[in-house]
Amino acid sequence: MSAIKIAENVHWVGVKDPDLRLFDIVVETKHGTTYNAYLIKGKNSAALIDTVKAGFTDEYLANLREIMPIEEIEYLIVNHTESDHSGAIVPLLEINPKLKLVCSAPALPFVQNTVNNPEVDITGIKNDHEIDLGGKKLIFKMMPYMHWPDTMMEYLEEDKILFPCDGFAGHYSFESIWADECNHDIDWEVEYYYKSIMRTYAMYIRKNMPKLDDLDIKIIAPSHGPLFRKNPERHLNSYREWSADKTVGKNQVCLFYTTSYGNTKRLADSLSSHLTAAGYEVVMLDCANLDEDYAKDMIEQSKALLYGTPTFNGDAVKPVWDAIMLLQGLSIMGKKAAVFGSYGWGGEGIKLVAERLTGLRLKVFEENYRARLVPSGEEMTGLKVWSERIAEFIA
Ligand SMILES: Cc1cc2nc3c(=O)[nH]c(=O)nc-3n(C[C@H](O)[C@H](O)[C@H](O)COP(=O)(O)O)c2cc1C
Ligand SMILES: [Fe+2]
Ligand SMILES: [Fe+2]
Repeated sequence: MSAIKIAENVHWVGVKDPDLRLFDIVVETKHGTTYNAYLIKGKNSAALIDTVKAGFTDEYLANLREIMPIEEIEYLIVNHTESDHSGAIVPLLEINPKLKLVCSAPALPFVQNTVNNPEVDITGIKNDHEIDLGGKKLIFKMMPYMHWPDTMMEYLEEDKILFPCDGFAGHYSFESIWADECNHDIDWEVEYYYKSIMRTYAMYIRKNMPKLDDLDIKIIAPSHGPLFRKNPERHLNSYREWSADKTVGKNQVCLFYTTSYGNTKRLADSLSSHLTAAGYEVVMLDCANLDEDYAKDMIEQSKALLYGTPTFNGDAVKPVWDAIMLLQGLSIMGKKAAVFGSYGWGGEGIKLVAERLTGLRLKVFEENYRARLVPSGEEMTGLKVWSERIAEFIA
């Protein structure tokens, strides 16, 4: 694949990886992916945006050489340091040791740890920093945690192109680089990418998105998959919508539980009716029978997450752990949580779940509620008192 012109003196110089079937260990890539990089030539200087994954270096260097000698490129812009885009930094520096690396201030130590060479010129920049290449001005936008702490984007003023790093990307490799030349549903791929990589940072994305509000964007040129030149605004709107705070206007609580003989379910049912009486909308979900997409939506909409587990063999049961694993891909920091369950002797599962939720940075109610085997009348009264405290805790 050769370099492709996307605007006057602006070229796609990336590579395609159509055979990749799994990205970052867990993300399915049925149609492969691309590692996009861009070369911008101004009247006075040239800047390269990103490199590619190691293993694709030769093809990438050949693409660059089609446009200009690598030794004459002044800047390498590192939008973020993940290895799928930073794999060819060192080979580039071997060819052009004078290359000036430009990254976000938080990326500085990451880039230093990638090049491991104190001689290299690396600058960490702040929001709204500008580089004028001569008739080609880049304006930088810091977008922390979209999806790494180091993430930044840039806008090429004259050509109205946004280079948004992994934002608005989709894993998809095909003959062209333009989304409008593809028969496949690329918007679905962009949504899948958001859900598998970005969703967990929704809180940061909604904070960062306003930095793009005043830009007149004609082309979105992300770091993976096709580029968008027809109605690119729709992808910005999708990100705004997907990352919005879904708890607003709701008073919802998600109650996860599972049960073998009905004991934990009795506690869950009672807790649910107490919280409903206190004015909460309770969504009860049996962990052993979860529709994961629905459960994720419910978690996002809920201000608190309650988990009921029996203890089996000194631990919580697998369906409950699997339900907790769903939290990994969601923006849950600061949500409230509480744990309860039925047990026979040690009741360790309840404590282990509370510890795990604390580790995931949920605000876990200090006291768990346990009832032994079949809950007694006294234990059910104790649960009512605990429910009232939970209702206050999550208010
Ligand atoms: C296979 C098995 C292993 C168990 N292991 C433990 C255990 O290690 N510690 C404990 O406190 N209770 C243990 N129990 C007791 C259960 O936690 C108890 O029966 C509980 O009431 C089950 O609640 P459920 O009806 O909601 O499933 C075990 C029960 C079973 C069936
Ligand atoms: Fe990334
Ligand atoms: Fe990436």
